[in-house]
Amino acid sequence: MKLDWNTLPKPIIALSPMADMTDSAFCQTVRYCSPFDPELVEGVVGSGLVVFREMVSSEAVVRHNDKTLGMTDIHPDERPLVQQIFGSDPATMAESARIIAEQHHPEGFDVNMGCPVYKIVHNFNGAALMKEPELATKIVRAMKEVIDVPLSIKIRLGWENPTDCIEFAKVLEDAGADLITVHGRTKCQGYAGVADWKMIRRVKEAVSIPVLCNGDVHKAELAPKALEVSGCDGLLIARGGLGNPWIFEQISDVLVGRVARVVTMEERVRTVLQHLDLHCQQYGERGVVTFRKHLSWYFKGVPGAKFFREQLHTTSSRSEIEKILNTLCHCEEASADAAIPRDCFASLAMTYGQL
Ligand SMILES: Cc1cc2nc3c(=O)[nH]c(=O)nc-3n(C[C@H](O)[C@H](O)[C@H](O)COP(=O)(O)O)c2cc1C
Repeated sequence: MKLDWNTLPKPIIALSPMADMTDSAFCQTVRYCSPFDPELVEGVVGSGLVVFREMVSSEAVVRHNDKTLGMTDIHPDERPLVQQIFGSDPATMAESARIIAEQHHPEGFDVNMGCPVYKIVHNFNGAALMKEPELATKIVRAMKEVIDVPLSIKIRLGWENPTDCIEFAKVLEDAGADLITVHGRTKCQGYAGVADWKMIRRVKEAVSIPVLCNGDVHKAELAPKALEVSGCDGLLIARGGLGNPWIFEQISDVLVGRVARVVTMEERVRTVLQHLDLHCQQYGERGVVTFRKHLSWYFKGVPGAKFFREQLHTTSSRSEIEKILNTLCHCEEASADAAIPRDCFASLAMTYGQL
């Protein structure tokens, strides 16, 4: 499968990379909930969903660290998939891309030039590269020399100054980047404030390669506004996809003027169990415990669900989780928007207590 950012139907809708979250199990789950249409038709919104895998360290890849290389493994159902890499040494970045390409053939690579976390930026990785345009150029050029798939770069608005992204994006385009994603916050902002989609528009207007808008599209209904304000070629969705792998299909619905499809509790529970099984295939028995971070998102904000969350977070048995979740299926009113009536959960809590 070939990925070409220029010819992919617009708007491009993609799952944003999230460390510890967008692993193979989650990418597969997103794909099952929002399938990729191989017969892409221009104008069929959302049919070109692309998933971005969580970042891996270029240093760890070139050291042939088993765990890191395992993180780059791809199930056929996840494709087309873009593997994100972080690092600051051009030769190491290129070599890590070469190794991953040789072993797993992702449809694209992405460089993390936006991560604000201290343990990343203090080594000139992530967002720190926005202060080093020459180094960023060398990284893009070195990687482009060894890969034969598109190279995209994920940036923020800047380190501190939100207009820095405009010049920096031009530097990346000149270096040979095929696509840029902009998260509409500066590094110094972290996650504070709101994503500035208008500033992202200035990046889109400054370069001729495709640009994706990222930040704060937490519900499908926000997608049209983000696209309109940013003028971008598409959206990268991160937190909005956690606990709601249907958001990509819901965005398709909204963009063609339909109401975003409602996910029944039965469907939600079926998906959670399927995701849990994929997660355990990937991580073994301890997967039941590490899956709790996803359970929190699947049932986040559900009024009255405290009882179930407590139960789900204390059990380490797959069958127990299934039993708890199956009691939730009685709740027909549930939606992907977590609009579950409080009394429904209260009565389910009693039912579960009697099992
Ligand atoms: C748990 C978590 C992990 C993340 N890991 C990465 C990562 O590995 N690479 C990256 O470029 N961005 C990462 N991000 C940032 C997101 O991809 C995205 O840019 C940011 O959350 C804003 O988008 P949103 O409002 O849709 O969540 C992460 C965000 C979260 C919440």
